[in-house]
Amino acid sequence: MNKPTPPLVSGALPGLGHALEFRSDRTSLVRRGFEEHGSVFAIKLANQNVAILIGPENQRVFFMETDKALGIQKPYTFLRAMFGEVLFLAPHDVYLDQRTVVLEAFRREKMLHYQDVMQEVVQKWIDSLGQTGEIELTGEMVRLVQEVAGNCFLGHEVHQQIGREFWDLYADLSAGLDPLLPPNLPLPKFRRRDRAKAQMLTILQPIIAERRAHPDRYDDFLQDLVNKRYRDGREVEEDLIVNLLLGLMFAGHETTAGQAAWTIIMLLQNPEYLRLVQNEIRRVVPYGAPLDTGRMAQLDHIGWAVREVERMRPSVDLLMRTVEEDVEVGDYVIPKGWLAQVAQDVAHNLPGLFEAPENYDPCRYAPGRAEDKADRFSLIGFGGGTHKCTGMNFANNEMTVITALLFQQLDIELLTEHPQIERGLGASRPSQTWIRYRRKSDEALHAAVDAAVASPAGCPHAQTAATAASLN
Ligand code: HEM
Repeated sequence: MNKPTPPLVSGALPGLGHALEFRSDRTSLVRRGFEEHGSVFAIKLANQNVAILIGPENQRVFFMETDKALGIQKPYTFLRAMFGEVLFLAPHDVYLDQRTVVLEAFRREKMLHYQDVMQEVVQKWIDSLGQTGEIELTGEMVRLVQEVAGNCFLGHEVHQQIGREFWDLYADLSAGLDPLLPPNLPLPKFRRRDRAKAQMLTILQPIIAERRAHPDRYDDFLQDLVNKRYRDGREVEEDLIVNLLLGLMFAGHETTAGQAAWTIIMLLQNPEYLRLVQNEIRRVVPYGAPLDTGRMAQLDHIGWAVREVERMRPSVDLLMRTVEEDVEVGDYVIPKGWLAQVAQDVAHNLPGLFEAPENYDPCRYAPGRAEDKADRFSLIGFGGGTHKCTGMNFANNEMTVITALLFQQLDIELLTEHPQIERGLGASRPSQTWIRYRRKSDEALHAAVDAAVASPAGCPHAQTAATAASLN
């Protein structure tokens, strides 16, 4: 028997479908669909049918289907004008080759090096803040994350040399992002985009040539790319090196900045949990101690705070695919020609998966509860399957370093009480959020260690699990 197509959500307008509502408040639209029809349903964006898949079982289909059945290229076509045929924008076999190169950049030894760079950059930023002041956190996180990305991927010397100019050009490139208009229209923003891209190539060309001449002199992502050879021995082309660098910066910087800012904001909004984090910082990484891998691994409460932000405030809250072959999902079939979508912001708030999902409760990830471990497709802030985020560990480490060093050295107060979610084209982030900070006194920085060791409070379940483990 032929299966039916997913049922349509109420409220479709003639000709427009749900397009206006999708634009103004897609979260409510998807929630309504879920309430009306359960975990698989459809909306219409003008004439385009879109199947929405909610819940781990259906999300598994979305992420585990082949690219041949659920295509990733077309929904991201508008990125081609910025980055060319890079990663999943390239033909599949070329993508697989490039992915190997990128994965190498995130292997363990490299991550250890990046962690050191992150610490240096974040510490430099904290030092630049002085004793006391007020900053707009969201914008500040964007600049900080740019510094980290620049230093890790371009290397310290190159970033020093071209840093600000590079990011100014990058801003022109990003301003040309437009998913609706044909990318080659003669508009000023598209001309600026192309000019910026050409200038970046001109700036980076002599640097790449210098790197080719000294393959052992530097240790950074740029050098890895320059040294890399295809299987037939050819060098990686200059413009591909530049496109990969720009593509990674794009995938990684606004997304990380948004979640880093939310991590700090949500801790400040939840002082009880913040106390657990501060205790952990004093115990594991007292002021002056290096944030090495061993210590990073012990910062559980910060890790859970970072994960709670991935759940509650995902920077990427919607993913799309084009349906290239009929795909069965549960009781339905999604026909070729439709779009398929997952929606993190709704999926992460399903009551059956997470206890009281509306509450900020990072202890839900502690051993003994581990709510995210029940199904690997329940928490999908970094996607899943073949296209799962390559930079996930990089981003999580970066957010951990920022949170640890910031709360280690500063007392912070949230001045903007209720920051809102602001949706951009690249990623969601908090609206403008002001904080006031004061550097902890030297006495406070050092004296606090004993107090923390004396009271190692943490998530209740984590302690019970730890006690049980020590008794076994
Ligand atoms: C909090 C920060 C981040 C979030 C929330 C995030 C989220 C995501 C998501 C949801 C996907 C899957 C896209 C899809 O399936 O359509 C993805 C893919 C990707 N991300 Fe991230 N990302 C973050 C940081 C980073 C960083 C720091 C980098 C690199 C520097 C990065 C590089 C990539 C790449 C290369 C892909 C494509 C993977 C592939 O198709 O092979 N991301 N990211």
